[in-house]
Amino acid sequence: MIEKKNNNIAIIGMSWGDEGKGKFCDYLAQKADIVVRFNGGNNAGHTVVSDGIKYKFKLMPSGGPLEKEVIIANGCVVDPKVLLDEIENLKKLGKKINLKLSSTSHIIFPFHKVLDGLEEESKGKYSAGTTKRGIGPTYSDKAARWGIRTFDLINPQLLKSKLEKLYKIKKDLINLYDSHWDTDFNSIYEEYKSYGDRLKPYVIDTAYYLNKAIDSGKKIVFEGAQGTLLGIDHGMYPFGTSSNANALGISAGTGVPSKKIGKIIGVIKAYTSRVGGGLFPTELTNSIAEKIRDQGKEYGTVTGRPRRVGWLDLFNIKYSIMINGVDSVIITLLDALEGINPLKICTAYELEGRLLESWPIQSEIIEQCKPLYNTFNGWEPKTSEEWSEIAKQGFNALPLAMKTYIQFIKDELQTDIAMISIGPDRNDTIVLEENLL
Ligand code: GDP
Ligand code: IMO
Ligand code: MG
Repeated sequence: MIEKKNNNIAIIGMSWGDEGKGKFCDYLAQKADIVVRFNGGNNAGHTVVSDGIKYKFKLMPSGGPLEKEVIIANGCVVDPKVLLDEIENLKKLGKKINLKLSSTSHIIFPFHKVLDGLEEESKGKYSAGTTKRGIGPTYSDKAARWGIRTFDLINPQLLKSKLEKLYKIKKDLINLYDSHWDTDFNSIYEEYKSYGDRLKPYVIDTAYYLNKAIDSGKKIVFEGAQGTLLGIDHGMYPFGTSSNANALGISAGTGVPSKKIGKIIGVIKAYTSRVGGGLFPTELTNSIAEKIRDQGKEYGTVTGRPRRVGWLDLFNIKYSIMINGVDSVIITLLDALEGINPLKICTAYELEGRLLESWPIQSEIIEQCKPLYNTFNGWEPKTSEEWSEIAKQGFNALPLAMKTYIQFIKDELQTDIAMISIGPDRNDTIVLEENLL
């Protein structure tokens, strides 16, 4: 028998994003060789606190601070200016850049951002409150098969001929919205040609590269962006993003077959947050919400918008565990619930007097559901130094009420807990499952 190696791990958001994926991609990257982004673009905002320095990445995979090899794979959409800025910022901090960019990733142009805003306006109550970074319109062009890819970007002749066509179509489309947009073709072409020149050294066929790396025993972290409930196929459509923000998106978004992906780790925030529009059954809008928002610093990394917050919803997380085939979970931001008493966790939805068997996914049905809760004792506030000290001491040092809260999550989800996070720093982590990677 020929042995095939598989040392990989995927970090996936179980809710509507911002669960703390960045922190744990950085954490696991310590032992990995390569960190890969497979979906989304600069709609993502991943915060990594590494050796006391805070990094906010939109496109760059979270292995950057550790100078690991990082890959932006074919499933991503790329705003070249944002990527070049992130490269420059890391260089300024003295970091070595070890980036590979897929030749078949798709490029975001200025007209995509204009159209993102116009489409949002015309959608009215179906608008998702996008980040207006051009994500949806770029994925639309990919599906329509007139998108411009990174390979085109780095080949000026191809870029010119494809952009000429697309520019005209988009200009006409913007006019149809009765909107005025007059950025001239040459300025976009020249600007993007220069981005192509600068990005060219990083561009390769990442699918081949990754498969070869895996076959030679390299350890890979697949870094999910957004969260399962925002995913295009299995999220709360249309109130989500335009890519598969779950483990199912890894194979199509990288070219790595599913059997090579390895462990799937689901990241769960101790409560729920959501940025933008769409239903949120366990949402809080009272003073408890303000306290959680304040303690969890719940303001969007990309847009700065205050994040909507609410109680933990294990009913929809059970759905996410199923869709992703999660092996074990990481629970984050438990410290941010300090001083709130009692705490609640939603475990079921009731519809017309009956308990639902599984999360109903269709927003028109979710709208009619009533979330049902279990109530828990809260825990006392502590300073961040005290939380860090507890993290050093391990699970037994956690407040009893927090241990009960964690045990309940484990029992409800019937899933092992790999790690617990009680602060933003890499070290504010309690490891329950050794040798994850
Ligand atoms: P991502 O999009 O899933 O990577 O998450 P974000 O980085 O957008 O949001 C998570 C925020 O919580 C970031 O500011 C992290 O630094 C921070 N964070 C992560 N884990 C913890 C934790 O356990 N406690 C606290 N207080 N903050 C955390
Ligand atoms: P990370 O990776 C939270 C939300 C937007 C909006 C919807 C569609 O940091 O978890 P888009 O610009 O993608 O077309 O917006 O998706 N959204 C996110 N919310 N975290 C994110 O990423 C998000 N990326 C997109 O707010 O509701
Ligand atoms: Mg985020």
